[in-house]
Amino acid sequence: MTLSASITGKPDRLTALAARRYRNGRSLPNHSNEALEAILSHRSVRDYLPQPVPEHIVDIAVTAAQSAPSSSNLQPWSVIAVEDSGIQDRLNAIAGNQRQIAQAPLLLIWLADLARPRSIAQGQGSNADGLDYVESFLLGIIDAALAAQNAVVALESLGLGTCYIGAIRNDPEAVSRELGLPDGVFPVFALTVGYPDPARPADVKPRLAQEAIVHRNRYDPTAHRAALDSYNRALRSFQAEQGMPCIDWTAQVSNRIGTVAALKGRHVLKDVARRLGFALK
Ligand SMILES: Cc1cc2nc3c(=O)[nH]c(=O)nc-3n(C[C@H](O)[C@H](O)[C@H](O)COP(=O)(O)O)c2cc1C
Repeated sequence: MTLSASITGKPDRLTALAARRYRNGRSLPNHSNEALEAILSHRSVRDYLPQPVPEHIVDIAVTAAQSAPSSSNLQPWSVIAVEDSGIQDRLNAIAGNQRQIAQAPLLLIWLADLARPRSIAQGQGSNADGLDYVESFLLGIIDAALAAQNAVVALESLGLGTCYIGAIRNDPEAVSRELGLPDGVFPVFALTVGYPDPARPADVKPRLAQEAIVHRNRYDPTAHRAALDSYNRALRSFQAEQGMPCIDWTAQVSNRIGTVAALKGRHVLKDVARRLGFALK
């Protein structure tokens, strides 16, 4: 317990947030501020009000996204804001018909965009040969993810809810056709955005104890073992509170990666990415 908590008898704000995040009695130093409180309060939102997302909110979210670091400042990502319900419905069909896509007034599609740097380099008389390597594909994916997460933090700080949708990668070529993506542009994930429905609130989902995640000086392959039982229990209580089917996290992990079928079509992504204009040398 920190000094201030021992004086007031109340848990510090950050310790209260850590208690929700871990459910294991972890305390944190009393360094609370609005940014930390927003980040530690994250939860994915899958139930939205029909209220549209104002344009100025999108403007702020994109500014936050563009404020993320960028590999060599190449800025190799783009985003498409989809509010057309026909396009949303067709993207939702690709993503396996998820309720948050059906409900969200706004869907942001985050793209690894190597078409723009290629065009710029070609304008300078370069072949842009460096773009034909796995490294450049990774760079686009990494930068798109960093940008999107900055947008998520900004949107949550403004009272909106979001949910990432990796399931658009079930069929990136269909997404590409739907959105008119040129060669060298890959749809990384979508993000549903909207005002959370207060009648169906989402709670903070617990995470693995830090001891399972943080290694000191060298990697310890056994570090996670002691954390699993208590994490299974924490996640089961979260699932029960949220009215979700109760299943151990360890079983979820195993189910998600246990078979090729569980990849839901994403086992062919290397070939798909090549067809979308990434040589992946
Ligand atoms: C890249 C990425 C893709 C995701 N794709 C989906 C998805 O297709 N459908 C979904 O319901 N949630 C999706 N999620 C949300 C995760 O399920 C969620 O972040 C995780 O369960 C932790 O819950 P929390 O965000 O509420 O803390 C995705 C998250 C990430 C980071």
